[in-house]
Amino acid sequence: MKVAVITSSDSGYAGMREDLSGPRVQEIARSFGAEIVYTNLLPDTQEVLEEELKKICDNHIADLLLTTGGTGFSSRDCMPEATLAVSERLVPGIPEAMRAYSMQFTKRAMLSRAAAGIRKKTLIINLPGSPKAVQECLEYIFPELEHGVDILTGTAVNCARK
Ligand code: MTE
Repeated sequence: MKVAVITSSDSGYAGMREDLSGPRVQEIARSFGAEIVYTNLLPDTQEVLEEELKKICDNHIADLLLTTGGTGFSSRDCMPEATLAVSERLVPGIPEAMRAYSMQFTKRAMLSRAAAGIRKKTLIINLPGSPKAVQECLEYIFPELEHGVDILTGTAVNCARK
């Protein structure tokens, strides 16, 4: 599975804070056998994020596009809005599952507005912005993503299980 990782962070983009979440996403995705084909660190600017997401999906740079950061309540947090704006189909079950699972670690998981959607043959998933949250969410969902991506890209045609 080809994976792109986008970090949304004004302070990271300005060089005022080291991006620890993007590298954590990469590390976890690799541990599940994924190939990291693209990474970028961008400011929390919706038009910039939308253009980046579209570029990755429309050129099918990655099968799976994982974002980290920008899902909270700060006035600059806009990753879910950018994701919903470019998605052709919504995938609410993935963020629902992340939030439900994450409640055992912190009830603040309910404060993440993370979204997920499909544009062309790419699945976009928002993750919260801390390395801890990334770890908790991504390790939980990753094992199921391969099947979803296989269906999306046409590698698998049905979900039959023996
Ligand atoms: N989810 C998990 N699994 N673990 C966490 O520590 N932190 C929450 C939430 N989701 C957290 C989590 C907090 S405190 C916030 S404010 C939101 O994610 C939004 O984070 P973001 O703005 O960095 O995207």
